[in-house]
Amino acid sequence: MDTTTLSDAALPAGFDISLKTRDGNPGLRGNYASMAADYTVPQAMSDYTSEQQARWLRLVERQLALIPSRACKEFLDAVNGLTALDMRRGIPNFADVNVALKAATNWTLVAVPGLLPDDVFFTHLANRRFPVTVWLREEREFDYIVEPDIFHDFFGHVPMLFTPIYADHLQAYGEGALKAKRLGGLDWLARLYWYTIEFGLIREKGATKAYGAGVLSSPKELIYALDSPIPKRVPFDVMTSMRTAFLIDDVQTTYFVLESFQQLRDDTAPDFTPHYEQLKREGA
Ligand code: PHE
Ligand code: FE
Repeated sequence: MDTTTLSDAALPAGFDISLKTRDGNPGLRGNYASMAADYTVPQAMSDYTSEQQARWLRLVERQLALIPSRACKEFLDAVNGLTALDMRRGIPNFADVNVALKAATNWTLVAVPGLLPDDVFFTHLANRRFPVTVWLREEREFDYIVEPDIFHDFFGHVPMLFTPIYADHLQAYGEGALKAKRLGGLDWLARLYWYTIEFGLIREKGATKAYGAGVLSSPKELIYALDSPIPKRVPFDVMTSMRTAFLIDDVQTTYFVLESFQQLRDDTAPDFTPHYEQLKREGA
């Protein structure tokens, strides 16, 4: 494995690798044999081995050491303030977390075998269900993994779901993605997801912090995105983000920085139909 590839598993449904490997193709990692029609599976807690529990703890400890100065306030408040998000207790049981999550923002976690087809993934989001992969990376993938595992999905994504404005945005995104699919705009909207939900940064009292799950779950990219002089950090702009192609297997060259989550809500509220028409004309 190329150890210079730094990006962690941020890959949401609908991106290149999943297009090549999902839908029953044996190239897709995860056990899709006994799932429900909506691709959910039971989370068999007793199937996690003590070795996996130990690896989970090491992943969690490494990342917790990096976030205090780098994660946004919303993320830190959730991780530090909620027993349900005390990830030092071991691989989280989604049913337990759901009691707290449902009370906070009316979202639910659902266990899934891995990457999902676009329409399945977006339908879950549109219904305030967040799909979390059940399996944990192998030891040799400790620093880098291509497909999202439970560490990326849970550590990176779940704490932000406790923030109401973010939670509402993600539901709206799911609805918007189903619409984009009908309009032929999904490739562009996928870029917006990438530069916000996965790799988004946000200004906070004059400093820049991370809220994107791909950044927050990757030790190298968290440091790179916030501390390195190399990448571009530009103010978030819907159309610019949708014009900016991304790499799935390396750190980003550009990060988009929000002023606030209200900005994300406001800027994505309008009907995107004219956006897609414009991008089509441009051949973006
Ligand atoms: N408002 C967008 C539309 O009408 C949908 C959307 C919502 C996109 C939230 C991104 C985030 O198409
Ligand atoms: Fe992700």
